[in-house]
Amino acid sequence: MTPDRFTAFFLAIFCLNGFPLTSNELAAAEGRKLDLKADNAYKHVIEPILAGSCIGCHGADKAKGKIRLHTPEEITKSKAIAADKDGDISMVLRINLPDEDEDVMPPEGKPRLSAEQKKLIGWWIAEGASFDKNIAALKVPDDVNAILTGLLYSEPKKVVIKKAFSLPEPSGVADASAVAAIEKSGALIMQLAQDTKYLSVNAINVAKSFNDAQVKLLVPVKGNLTWLDVSRSGITDAAASDISQLAMLTKLHLENTAVTDNTLQQLGKLSKLEYLNLYGTKVSDAGLEHLKGLKNLKKLYVWQTGVTEAGVNKLKESIPGLYVNMGWKAPEEKPPEPKK
Ligand code: HEC
Repeated sequence: MTPDRFTAFFLAIFCLNGFPLTSNELAAAEGRKLDLKADNAYKHVIEPILAGSCIGCHGADKAKGKIRLHTPEEITKSKAIAADKDGDISMVLRINLPDEDEDVMPPEGKPRLSAEQKKLIGWWIAEGASFDKNIAALKVPDDVNAILTGLLYSEPKKVVIKKAFSLPEPSGVADASAVAAIEKSGALIMQLAQDTKYLSVNAINVAKSFNDAQVKLLVPVKGNLTWLDVSRSGITDAAASDISQLAMLTKLHLENTAVTDNTLQQLGKLSKLEYLNLYGTKVSDAGLEHLKGLKNLKKLYVWQTGVTEAGVNKLKESIPGLYVNMGWKAPEEKPPEPKK
């Protein structure tokens, strides 16, 4: 490929998380030539690749595979650039797998890294994965030099994360030892977005071992916890009184658990709740009666439960604008992990 063609190709791949560029955006994204003397290897070469292809899933708002790659600190913490006991470096390994390999990064369906991008990442890591060295301070083999010479730099687009809700910010951050205890349970606890002290907890990876006892671990962070996913976990109605203390919850996943109307009786206290998923539980119309006071509730999922249309209509009278999914359409895709 000629340098120009390569540049355009490269830009088209890395600029916008895989969204096609409009001509305006392309113009704005064209950037400048790299300065091989003064530019920094991480900031000007590697960060734009990660920003374009990885941080949508491994960034401030998501930590797929429990790793984030959007800052030097997080990259280091992720161990993605550290050699394992066999000397393998997971980032290098994953990006170089064949397209059809199920472990390839970015995963299936997302645009692959180009051969040049793979080469640059491999080079940077082989050269010590430094976050502060300039390109000029590293050994630059001819083939890498050829790529760098043709490369344009433009500042990666900042991923804008808007708060998904209008809650006032919590007065403080969650207690560190309480957070550590939740982490120890195996549940994923994360800051909901960059600009908030709110947290999300997701127990999906440890659903089998997460039950009523583990729910108790959440109570000490109740001032910060606003999204909770305990779907498919072992929780029962015995967890209801603890869950009902999580007063800042806006989103709650209880689908496919053993909870019944007895839990709903307690959930009536969660006045901030906007999203409630009860799909595949034993709840019924009688339980919905207890939700009438949830004036902020916008979405309710009661597919494969005992709830009837009559019960739903009654609830809708109390909560105007409520969307209820009873499964006559395919249930809406489960919202992705903490985003927004
Ligand atoms: C569409 C979402 C998505 C994108 C984009 C993505 N990843 Fe991943 N990544 C995942 C998921 C999900 C996992 C966990 C499952 C697995 O290990 O395959 C993961 C796991 C990983 C792991 C292993 C983590 C560990 O230690 O277990 C590494 C390393 C990684 N990704 C690197 C990258 C890099 C580098 C990029 C960009 C070139 C990238 N990923 C892009 C979703 C994504």
